[in-house]
Amino acid sequence: TKKEKLELVTQKIRPFPDFPSKGILFRDICPLLKDPEALTAAIDLFEEHVREAYPQVQQIVGLDARGFLFGPLLAQRLGVGFALVRKKGKLPGPTVSVAYTLEYGKAEVEIQADAVDPGQKVLLVDDLLATGGTLFAACELMKKQKAEVLGCLVVIELRDLNGLERLKPNSVFSLVQY
Ligand code: PRP
Ligand code: ADE
Repeated sequence: TKKEKLELVTQKIRPFPDFPSKGILFRDICPLLKDPEALTAAIDLFEEHVREAYPQVQQIVGLDARGFLFGPLLAQRLGVGFALVRKKGKLPGPTVSVAYTLEYGKAEVEIQADAVDPGQKVLLVDDLLATGGTLFAACELMKKQKAEVLGCLVVIELRDLNGLERLKPNSVFSLVQY
């Protein structure tokens, strides 16, 4: 059942206090990847939600780096393709980029110009929503490419950081919330 699957997933998220810096409670998804049953459960839950809420989806777009772990598995289940949003400087050929601010400093995300098509209906996938800065920048990239963002999917949502607010009016579906 859905409840059992969620339980499997939740049990495999490991908290690490003070990583990568003091005061940060890092949510580690490596145990989830190590356990094939739990990983299958996570993808099952994503698939069930997408089939119900976004049956029209045409492409999954994954975020560097941990979105790449879940996005292609989901894309395969749905029978659609996968595109990569990468940190700047990793992709060959014509690219489009968007700069965004982090808690400290700046970063830039990039996509190949032909990775998504104008009008294509896409879902963005990442492991975790914190401030929403990364997913917001990816949404801006989709806007530049005239792709239609149906919504965002994450395994984990950190509620305190107000990522949902930042991403409005885009919707975010998460499996586990802290
Ligand atoms: C983490 C996480 C998300 C992002 C969430 O990635 O995997 O992509 O931060 O934070 P935000 O909502 O505040 O933008 P990180 O930047 O650590 O990069 P990595 O995936 O390459 O480890
Ligand atoms: N990315 C941003 N914040 C994070 C956290 N607390 N745990 C894991 N990844 C993160």
